[in-house]
Amino acid sequence: MLTFKILSIFPKYFVSPFMDGLLKQAIEKGSIVIDVIDIRDFSNDKHRTVDDTPYGGGAGMVMKPEPIVSAIQHAKADEKDYAVIVFSPKGRKFDQGTAKRYSKHTRFILVCGRYEGMDERVPEFYADEELSIGDYVLSGGEAAALVFIESIARLMPGYMGNKESVVDESYENNLLEYPQYTKPRVFEGHEVPGVLLSGNHKEIQRWRLEQSVKITAMRRPDLLTAAKKDKHVLSIIEAIDKGNEEGK
Ligand code: ADE
Repeated sequence: MLTFKILSIFPKYFVSPFMDGLLKQAIEKGSIVIDVIDIRDFSNDKHRTVDDTPYGGGAGMVMKPEPIVSAIQHAKADEKDYAVIVFSPKGRKFDQGTAKRYSKHTRFILVCGRYEGMDERVPEFYADEELSIGDYVLSGGEAAALVFIESIARLMPGYMGNKESVVDESYENNLLEYPQYTKPRVFEGHEVPGVLLSGNHKEIQRWRLEQSVKITAMRRPDLLTAAKKDKHVLSIIEAIDKGNEEGK
C-alpha cells in the first residue's frame, strides 16, 4: 500500500486527477491512499495567511515556514515513516532512477510550493529532498506532485496489469521506446513497417532495439553513453555505425 499526503494551498487542484484510470482503480482497491491537506488550515491568523514578503527585499511573496511545518507535523502524527519531499524548480532533477529509488518507500508527504518559493528552512530542516520535475518553471509544485505520484504508482507491484509494459518502456535500459503501430495496416497511404508483419519474432526484436537506439541517438544523445554499458545495445550501435560507414 502506498500513502501520499499532499500539502498544498490549492487542494481542489487534486480533485479530478484521481478520478480516472489506474490511479482511480488503485484508490478504490485501497492499494493507494491519497490525503490532500490544505496548508491554509495550519495558518494561525484569521485571514489564513500563508505568505509574506522576502527578507532582503525583492519581488513576490515567500511561503511562510510555520503553516507548512505545522501541516507536515500533522501529516506525521501517526508516527509512521514518511519521505518528505518539497517540489520546486531549484530541486534535484526527478527522473526514472529517482522514481525507482523512492519506489522502495511506501509513505510520502509531498509539499507543493507556490509564489516565489518557500522559506528555505522548510526544505533544509523538514524535508528529505527537494525535487524538480524538469528545467522549466511552473506556477507551483502541484503538477510536480502528480507527476511524482504517477511515476511511483506505476512501479508498485500489481499496479500495471502487464509487468512487461514496465520493462520495455522508455528510460528502462536508458533507451527511448521504439515506435508502436496498430491497425489499419495502411492509414491514409502510410504503411506500417513491413518487419512488424513478418511474424519473425527475432527480427522484430532486433528492429525494435535498432529503432530505440536510433531515436535515442537523435533525441537524447545524453542517455546513449549509459545505454552502451549493455553489451547487446552496444553491438546494435556498432552495427548501425558500420552500416552508416558503408553507406558513405
Ligand atoms: N514548481 C515550480 N516549478 C517546478 C518544477 N519544475 N518542478 C517542481 N516543482 C516546481
